[in-house]
Amino acid sequence: YPPSLPIADRETQLAQLAAQVAGCVRCDELVCYRKQTVFGEGNPQARVAFFGEAPGADEDRQGRPFVGRAGQLLTKMIEACTLRREDVYILNTLKCRPPENRNPLPHELDNCRSYFEAQFNLIQPEYIVCLGLFAAQSLLRSKLSVGRLRGRFHAYHNSKVLVTYHPSYLLRTASAKRLAWEDLQIMMADMGIRR
Ligand code: URA
Repeated sequence: YPPSLPIADRETQLAQLAAQVAGCVRCDELVCYRKQTVFGEGNPQARVAFFGEAPGADEDRQGRPFVGRAGQLLTKMIEACTLRREDVYILNTLKCRPPENRNPLPHELDNCRSYFEAQFNLIQPEYIVCLGLFAAQSLLRSKLSVGRLRGRFHAYHNSKVLVTYHPSYLLRTASAKRLAWEDLQIMMADMGIRR
């Protein structure tokens, strides 16, 4: 990471970046389809960032990340770690909702990459939790599955990166919740949090 900035400068630069994202026209189809961009939100000094895939219908309507059903589960996951939603930072690989929630396309991930890189450079979280395949593969530039990547730390600059299942997947696949909880406990143990 570049040298870290004082809190006031981080807030200013995050606001400037959010304004830039709001006017982004890099992806023709997404520009037409979105109601608005979803930049991300949270504590600019967060120790932990949760990194999702892309806004869904609720997020596109409200302009905030993870506010729908998957978001409610994510909030529970954050609280299970004895953290609070307002203490962490929440962002996505794509800032625009893909049509009918289809998967992000490679050129869209490329187009949006500089935004999440800038967010991580400003926040410099100690931990990044990648939620699902697209967050994991784009952050780590990996082709491996979540099943292969989960359960241990990876590195992104100075951040320790964990990969776990996306909350939308957990809503459909209750048996994976135990594995996601194992992943979060790896981070909690490293943070010195005991429940
Ligand atoms: N799913 C995501 O990956 N991100 C959101 O913001 C909402 C749902």
